[in-house]
Amino acid sequence: MPKIQKIGILTSGGDSPGMNAAIRAVVRTGIYEGLDVFGIYRGYEGLIDGLIEPMTSSSVSNIIQRGGTILKTARSERFKTKEGRQKAYDIICQFKLNALVVIGGNGTFTGASVFDKEFDFPIIGLPGTIDNDLYGTDSTIGYDTAINTAVEAADKIRDTATSHERLFFIEVMGRDAGFIALRTGIAAGAEFILVPETTTYINNLARLLKHDWRKNKTSGLVIVAEGDDAGGAYKIAEKVKEQLPEMDTRVTVLGHIQRGGSPSAYDRVLASTLGHASVGALLEGHRGEMVGQVDKKIVYTPFEKAIKYNKDINHQMLEMSRILAL
Ligand code: F6P
Repeated sequence: MPKIQKIGILTSGGDSPGMNAAIRAVVRTGIYEGLDVFGIYRGYEGLIDGLIEPMTSSSVSNIIQRGGTILKTARSERFKTKEGRQKAYDIICQFKLNALVVIGGNGTFTGASVFDKEFDFPIIGLPGTIDNDLYGTDSTIGYDTAINTAVEAADKIRDTATSHERLFFIEVMGRDAGFIALRTGIAAGAEFILVPETTTYINNLARLLKHDWRKNKTSGLVIVAEGDDAGGAYKIAEKVKEQLPEMDTRVTVLGHIQRGGSPSAYDRVLASTLGHASVGALLEGHRGEMVGQVDKKIVYTPFEKAIKYNKDINHQMLEMSRILAL
């Protein structure tokens, strides 16, 4: 294996606040270690197309506080094909890159894992997704900021829900995971939190809502993870309304607002720590692994495990949220 001298960095998949802080950390640590660092634009798409530029310390000035990713991102269909990956490898050879740092989520690591196996090429991953659905890190880069954004929005909706005595269904992101919904729900004091990790029974939900209203409530929030098994917020609201026509219901889908914005201090520190550690990991010979943080310690998790060993949500917290909302 050639000595690592030139590394490429890219962001891929859905962007997340803190990706820029991670890029900054990789670039500056790489330069400190005497490496040449190249920025690859538009994720794996840009790797295939050779959208690559050398990065200097000043290329990453003034970005730690910025949301999004200065390197841009994409969900690459071409990288899922053998031809696409071959083109990417040809570009890697052309630029004489010895290793890559990829920042992203499940799709990004799946691609990295296949690529490493095909071309025997060192890649280290950093968990960059608002969903927090990667095993091997307590928190992914962007998750904390996304929750804070969602909570701020939920608080505002609470004001109008209370004034109008309405029941709001608020949909948060999380295609396959309920982490954002759970934390947002607890922090916003939601009456119900619906997540893909548990089965949602509409009859049960309607019965409990009726009970709450009979007792003392006149308004409320139901936080729905976008990937809930009973459907999104619109569908669930419709089904509940069928059973409780007397209730004044409304739906808000928070959508991509959750992916943007200046990263929280927590996400900046996490991204800086993991970005810094990723360069050290490569120099120590790590590859095919995601660098994460568990119990404040840096841990390395093979890509396959990070993707497939789905971490479960905390069911006790889910139960607690209901008690606290009674
Ligand atoms: O993976 C992060 C995520 O924000 C998911 O929560 C969401 O389902 C998805 O990306 C949306 O992706 P896109 O922006 O490509 O529609």
